[in-house]
Amino acid sequence: MTVPLELTINSRRQRVEVDPAKTLLAVLREDLDLTGTKYGCGEGQCGACTVLLDGRPVRSCLTAVSAVGDRPIVTIEGLERAGKLHPVQAAFLAEGALQCGYCTSGMIMSTVGLLSRQSSPGDDDIKRALDGNVCRCGTYGRIIAAVKRAATITSTEASNG
Ligand code: FES
Ligand code: FES
Repeated sequence: MTVPLELTINSRRQRVEVDPAKTLLAVLREDLDLTGTKYGCGEGQCGACTVLLDGRPVRSCLTAVSAVGDRPIVTIEGLERAGKLHPVQAAFLAEGALQCGYCTSGMIMSTVGLLSRQSSPGDDDIKRALDGNVCRCGTYGRIIAAVKRAATITSTEASNG
């Protein structure tokens, strides 16, 4: 059985006709072709599927699409503005904080969530915020450097208005 649902994704209202038991991850990838959000474990253990729901990082593989309601969703595809990368995306590139890239969109979304709560996180804050995001390639050192670089870019942009 499918039902019509309206979702707000990356600032756009999107109508879908889906099985309400489907996960948000499956709807993003299969129904809306937003494949930047990755399927890793499907069990809430790896963070590859992280998106922002109402500004907070959530595991989309554990989120039933029917539970989303009117809360806005942001995926990796929604971060760039007018062709310009989001500061967190730019920082990950600048620091070479990826190898295969499978974990990267989840890492970036968790980082965006962190920086919206805390503008200058220390190493321990970053480790705590990314604790549920697994990088099988072991690029953690460069990821932490990227988060710090992103924090600097974001606070410079904020102070420049
Ligand atoms: S795919 Fe969702 S946490 Fe691994
Ligand atoms: S870059 Fe390969 S899993 Fe993180």
